[in-house]
Amino acid sequence: MISEGDWIMLWSPKSMELLQVTGETKRVRGIGVVDTGKFICESLGSAVNLGRDTYHVLKPTLRHGPEIIRRGPQIVQPIMASVIVHKCDIGCGDKVVEGGAGSGMLSAALLNAVGNQGKVYTYELEKDHLKIARENVRSFGYEDRWVPKIGDVTKDVVETEVDAFVVDIPQPWDAMDLVIGALKKGGSFLAYVPTVNQVERTYKEMLDRIFIDIECSEVFERKMVVSEGGVRPSFDGLGHNGYVVRGVKTDETRS
Ligand SMILES: C[S@@+](CC[C@H](N)C(=O)[O-])C[C@H]1O[C@@H](n2cnc3c(N)ncnc32)[C@H](O)[C@@H]1O
Repeated sequence: MISEGDWIMLWSPKSMELLQVTGETKRVRGIGVVDTGKFICESLGSAVNLGRDTYHVLKPTLRHGPEIIRRGPQIVQPIMASVIVHKCDIGCGDKVVEGGAGSGMLSAALLNAVGNQGKVYTYELEKDHLKIARENVRSFGYEDRWVPKIGDVTKDVVETEVDAFVVDIPQPWDAMDLVIGALKKGGSFLAYVPTVNQVERTYKEMLDRIFIDIECSEVFERKMVVSEGGVRPSFDGLGHNGYVVRGVKTDETRS
């Protein structure tokens, strides 16, 4: 049941809009003026008529993040975010350090994975970026477990014994001393990078340090258009998504 203060997503096959249910009227992009009070006590999944269109009231979902969040810096796509969570074995109750809040899309995926018993400590250099990230994280309802900080993830991290350390910054290798200080033994470090040059440098830096089980993958999603007799890959979508380099911290130097 939807309550005052909740965030909802108005979904139609043509568009999606994010909206907070305050009980007041609001102007919603692509729809016009909407009385948000009409959603209070509705159940998620309900259909509502707004103007000439029918929308479904849904929970804001991470997979629609790129369509519904406020855009600032380039975001990590939902498919990449889910791979990052999986490759670092991030789950309920975990403590995670993140470098580079950007628009908060990856923060939201990490926050979803750690659940309300976990914590994500996110370092961001730019105040303006953190403001956008905060707004987006709030709209997914994950603020309770988030510790956003203005700071440099290559210099300012104070957390220790964390389960995972994830960065989306241009120079992941600069963070390596603090990564080693913050991670617990057996914890995962992962860098998301858009170029192979960054992959090579990050990988080498990890090989030279106390990481094992180092791997790199390109992550790519190809959507399909499904219609009777005409199932084919979509012409839309990103041609390039990026790479993840990941390893596990040990306490020994490689022999
Ligand atoms: C591409 S954006 C991150 C996008 C984010 N992963 C998302 O999905 O919305 C990179 C961010 O890292 C921040 N950044 C770059 N170097 C940093 C550093 N050393 N410490 C903290 N933040 C940094 C930038 O200001 C920028 O906001």
